Amino acid sequence: MLVLGLESSCDETAAAIVEGDGLVRSSVVATQHDLHAEYGGVVPEIASRAHVERIQPVVREAIAQAGITPRDLDAVAVANQPGLVGSLLVGVAAAKALAWSLGVPLVGVNHVHAHLDAVRLRHDETVDHADVFPALGLVVSGGHTAIYRVASRTQFERVGSTIDDAMGEAFDKVAQILRLPHPGGPEVDRLASEPDADPGRFRLPVPRLPKRPLDFSFSGLKTAVLYTVRGTPRPAKEGGGFPRELTDVSDIDRRDLAASFQRTAVKAVMLKLGRALDERVPEARALIAGGGVTANSHLRSELARFAHEHDLELKLPKPEFCIDNAAMIASLGADVLESQGADGISLTPTPTTAR
Ligand code: KG4
Ligand code: ZN
Repeated sequence: MLVLGLESSCDETAAAIVEGDGLVRSSVVATQHDLHAEYGGVVPEIASRAHVERIQPVVREAIAQAGITPRDLDAVAVANQPGLVGSLLVGVAAAKALAWSLGVPLVGVNHVHAHLDAVRLRHDETVDHADVFPALGLVVSGGHTAIYRVASRTQFERVGSTIDDAMGEAFDKVAQILRLPHPGGPEVDRLASEPDADPGRFRLPVPRLPKRPLDFSFSGLKTAVLYTVRGTPRPAKEGGGFPRELTDVSDIDRRDLAASFQRTAVKAVMLKLGRALDERVPEARALIAGGGVTANSHLRSELARFAHEHDLELKLPKPEFCIDNAAMIASLGADVLESQGADGISLTPTPTTAR
């Protein structure tokens, strides 16, 4: 089965052709990072407009690279939730038009679930038949931070999520405080990996949320980094404002702060992951992780240590499939189509989801 996947939920316009078992025939991603960089975050209206301009060329390119014609397609899958509604709408409208005109089934896919299906994606014929379910799932990206109980390829139960910033968002905001380019996650990782970086130098808070023990919070950690750089804000009656400027920090302090932040953020994730394993998926066979932040070097080594310690198989996507892409949408779409059937032409975008 040949599936065309479309992804436009945030700031990547992507199309891919994937065979039902996860063999990727083509995967094209047009990123909008350059358009949003000067704002330090994604501007929804700019994102929607860029999707409108790019979706057709990206689909054409994916079809050309796969060496097929549109008539060879068996289904169209699209990320219809969660995301920015104006952005989702572009992918959903394009997917409907293609599916309708080709007379093939249309299936809507949850973008966050698809990050966990990305571990199946491959460029060669080797198929991994290992049974990894039930699995403990972790999605950490610029927009999402969640832990799942994954019962099968299409059954996801969210057991914990962030109550404020996503993990990647926290990396990006800390990078802004440290005056690093956007998106900042890779830059924080690079600074923190410098040979003399000291991740124990600054003591930053690890939020535990006793009433919501499986949920995450990163905003306090980000604020702690800001206060370390600029000092504690003065009370309003003393005129408010910070005692120091962002530029007052030395290069050594920036490096050690990047390392301390990274270590604390990863520690917070590992703490919740351990608790979720004990309480919600004690019979787990594997740990599956996905999303842009799984590219982080410290997180990857901690996930490997955790999996080894708990006798779990660790499944991580290839680096190109950790970030937003449409191949993961197509591969999950093939499974959803098989287990739950097609969606009708009335498929709508859903900006947020409780799943
Ligand atoms: O999955 P993704 O492409 O987009 C969303 O679905 O949001 O993830 C992008 C996020 C950005 O916040 C980026 O800074 C972060 O992943 N990221 C990293 C690293 N590489 C990408 N964060 C920490 N360390 C990295 N090496
Ligand atoms: Zn994503």
